[in-house]
This record gives sequence, C-alpha cells and structure tokens, in this order.
Amino acid sequence: MSSQPLPMAPEPGSDPAAVAELQAEVRALAKARDAVILAHNYQVPEVQDVADYVGDSLGLSQQAAQVENPVIAFCGVHFMAETASILAPEKTVLLPDLDAGCSLADSISAPQLEQWQQRYPNAITVMYVNTTAAIKALTDYCCTSSNAVAVVNHIIAEHGPDVEICFGPDMFLGAYVQKITGHQPMHIWDGECHVHAGIRPDDITRVRGEHPGADFLIHPECGCVTSVMEYVAAGDVDAEGVQMLSTGGMLGYAEQAAAEGSKRDVIVATEVGMLYPLQQAAPDVNFIPANAEASCRYMKMITLEKLRDTLRDGSGEVKVEPGIAELARVPIERMVSINP
Ligand code: 13P
Ligand code: SF4
Repeated sequence: MSSQPLPMAPEPGSDPAAVAELQAEVRALAKARDAVILAHNYQVPEVQDVADYVGDSLGLSQQAAQVENPVIAFCGVHFMAETASILAPEKTVLLPDLDAGCSLADSISAPQLEQWQQRYPNAITVMYVNTTAAIKALTDYCCTSSNAVAVVNHIIAEHGPDVEICFGPDMFLGAYVQKITGHQPMHIWDGECHVHAGIRPDDITRVRGEHPGADFLIHPECGCVTSVMEYVAAGDVDAEGVQMLSTGGMLGYAEQAAAEGSKRDVIVATEVGMLYPLQQAAPDVNFIPANAEASCRYMKMITLEKLRDTLRDGSGEVKVEPGIAELARVPIERMVSINP
C-alpha cells in the first residue's frame, strides 16, 4: 500500500453573499428546466444545500429511477451519473464536470474483468456500483456499501454454500464482506479508492488514543477496516461502539444520536465531506475525522458555478449506449430488489 500523501481537494472559496446569489440562480434555472438536483454526501456544503436530495450511492440510484422530472442534474462522479442514466434512460442526466471520475472505478477495465471471468468460468460476478457501465454490463449482481453483505448472502441462499464468487473492485469491502459472511469460495479484485485506502490503521491508533471511549463509524472501503475488526476481535475496542456503514448508514446513526440527545465523541473514517451532513443531523455530537486529509478531489470538482453553467446550457450530458445500458440494468435491478 502506498504511503504517498493523499491528493487533496482545494478548499472552496466562500463569500456568503456570492454563494447565496449563485444558489438562488441555480434554483431558478433548475425550476425553469424542470430539473431535479441530486447530490452525493461528499459534495461541498454549498452544493448539498442547493440539492433536492442528498444521499449515498444506493439512495441516489433509487431517486434517479423514481423522480418525475425530465432532467437530472447529478452532483457526484461519472459512474453515478451513468447509473442514473441506465435506470432512467428517458431522462437527460447532466454532470457539471465530465472529468469527475473515480479511482476505484478506474481500477478495473472491461477486458481485465473478462479475463478474470475466464479464469473462474463458474463464478457469479458481484461488482460494487463504483464501476463503469461497461463493467456493469458484464456483471451478475451490483452492490453498494450498504447492501454488499445482503447481496452475497442472497447469492449463497440462491446457489448454495459452495457458490464461487468474483467480488470487485474494492479489496477492503471484499475482505469485510468475506469476514462477515464467512464465505470462502470468493475471489477478490485488488482495487481500491485512493481516499479510503489512505485512512490507515495508524490513523485509527492515533485518533483512538486522542479520544478514548469514542464510537467508530467506518466506511467499508477504508484501509483500516481489517485492523479495526482485529481490535474488536482482540477486545481492544468495544464491538458495541464500532459500526461499518455506508454514508447513508452514517447519517442514520447521526439521526438516532440526535434523537437520544447524545453529546458523545464519534470518530468517522470516510471522505471528509461526510462531516457536514453528519454535523447538521446531530449538532451536539462531536464528529472527529479519522484522517482530515481524506478528501476526494473528484467529488470536489463539482462547484456551484459548474452546476449553474450545466443547468443554464444543458451541458455535460451523460448517456450510456442503449445496448450497454440494457445489460447494465440487470445487475443493478437485481441489487435493488434485494432488501438488506
Ligand atoms: P456510499 O455513499 O454508497 O457509501 O459510497 C461512498 C463512495 O465512495 C461513493 O463514491
Ligand atoms: Fe471514487 Fe473514492 Fe472518490 Fe468515492 S471517494 S468517488 S470511491 S475516488
């Protein structure tokens, strides 16, 4: 694993009056185009605040399929906009910056997946939604961080305990799913998200020392997942206070903590954009980033200015070729039909 510094996203400049003016312009343009604005939890606060819906990968896919507006302005990264287009082919999906990619989606190509499948011809392929449409078109089941365990358990229930599974592209999520399900005939691709992989066991050791007794919320893509599970197994960390959650699951935790009036310390291991919706949901809880440098430069490419331009000009359309979209829809719909 590389110990290189994380590629940092630049700090957004924020003159509150200019931000408010741009937000008003964005809302007016969205109304004029009958567009819905969807934003991922890692988006910058001023973009989250102007969105109709903010959520995790699964929630955003569900919204894309459900909303009635003919236009979706997608504030997230390219594979998410592709997923929206696959699920809602009749809608126009606009991405404010077409270069907003994802290091995890880039960690497997269609020819690589085909070669892998040829090595294990009987295996069922499960791919995280952080993949291109071309990968999804070769996949049996998609999953997100909130339902990966449920998807693998569903496959085991359907095909029996010996079913062989090719799981990718995230190796930390794969290791986590294998540990929880105990499923051995599972091949795991060695891809990673550069942001989450950079949240290392050392970060957890340091921040645990600074905040003894804190709860842990850990995204299963993180490079520290295995070591936290080891801490729990060794009894060094109380299992009760550790939760492996998608970003949507983290928000559910915050809402619950707020309802209980909690003021506890909570260490959050994921992309730092998540701190904003968490703090809004539970203002009295002390959320502490496990690694304050874990910022996704792709997510931060989406700015209010670019969102305004996209809505004004109808630019940045993401459209998946119909033949690929038809194949890619199958594993996504299989995933959505499995209730975790
Ligand atoms: P979720 O929002 O589904 O937890 O995914 C996190 C992520 O890394 C998206 O890029
Ligand atoms: Fe991709 Fe990681 Fe950024 Fe999510 S945080 S979009 S997985 S690079």
